[in-house]
Amino acid sequence: METVRTIRSLKAALHGAASVGLVPTMGNLHDGHMALVDTSVDRCDTTVVSIFVNPLQFGPNEDFDNYPRTLPADTAMLESAGVSLVFAPPVHEVFPAAGQTVKVTLPSLSRLLCGRSRPSHFDGVATVVAKLFNIVGSDYAFFGEKDWQQLTLIRSMVRYLSIPTTVIGVPTVRAADGLALSSRNRYLSDAERAIAPTLYQTLCSLRDAIQHGDRRYRVLERHGRDALADAGFEVDYVAVRDAMTLRTPHAESERLRILAAARLGKARLIDNIDAGQA
Ligand code: PAJ
Repeated sequence: METVRTIRSLKAALHGAASVGLVPTMGNLHDGHMALVDTSVDRCDTTVVSIFVNPLQFGPNEDFDNYPRTLPADTAMLESAGVSLVFAPPVHEVFPAAGQTVKVTLPSLSRLLCGRSRPSHFDGVATVVAKLFNIVGSDYAFFGEKDWQQLTLIRSMVRYLSIPTTVIGVPTVRAADGLALSSRNRYLSDAERAIAPTLYQTLCSLRDAIQHGDRRYRVLERHGRDALADAGFEVDYVAVRDAMTLRTPHAESERLRILAAARLGKARLIDNIDAGQA
């Protein structure tokens, strides 16, 4: 396994590679990231993992400066997983111009749900992922279902911009008590960590209600918000949506997704689950 920091050395290392899988990350890897890596290693001849804490996707009061940077531990995990190349560029390699002049924006998906409280986040994600697709020229790219809105946005971007990469979604990896693995779980105190699985449990109980025929989505969302607030969360949203458009379910909706975001102390936790046929 080789770790490269420049686009030129990445391209040189990829020269002549057969099928290339890309796993974009911001590092501080855990078993959730490694599920994406394992899927890529199984499917593709060459797997590239990018490790880049992308300044564009952090808001002014968010944790860009404090985001954990753990490259030596990350590369050790990737090496034993059979990864071919790690791309860990400095910021100026990815965004060389002073002042970013081109942005990828998907207004219909980036302003709702998490986009309401993080207004520039998804433009920052779309812009950096489009750049990574162009830089790596991957045949496949792997993203976690844990960040469902991100996955949906990237699928749309690839379709609308005709990017020749196939996007593969990988199911969420959870702790034994149901909490979705996330780098931000480290911000939880022991007491908060004990409460945190309530997020997943709440989503599961809403899903069960829907699968038992309850279609009062607004009422269910309110029940979800109340359950989380009672447990001590500061709730951002609980939403039952069309899984593809992220809009309120409509006559043509094929599948439902329940998504939630809530703050527990310093950590903002997000999660989502499939809720079956509309
Ligand atoms: P990051 O938060 O590092 O996540 C990298 C990838 O790992 C994402 O596709 C995310 O959905 C996936 N992932 C994280 N936790 C997971 C879990 N518990 N189970 C399954 N997959 C999980 O998401 C980003 O970075 C950035 O926005 C990025 C796409 C790299 C663009 O900067």
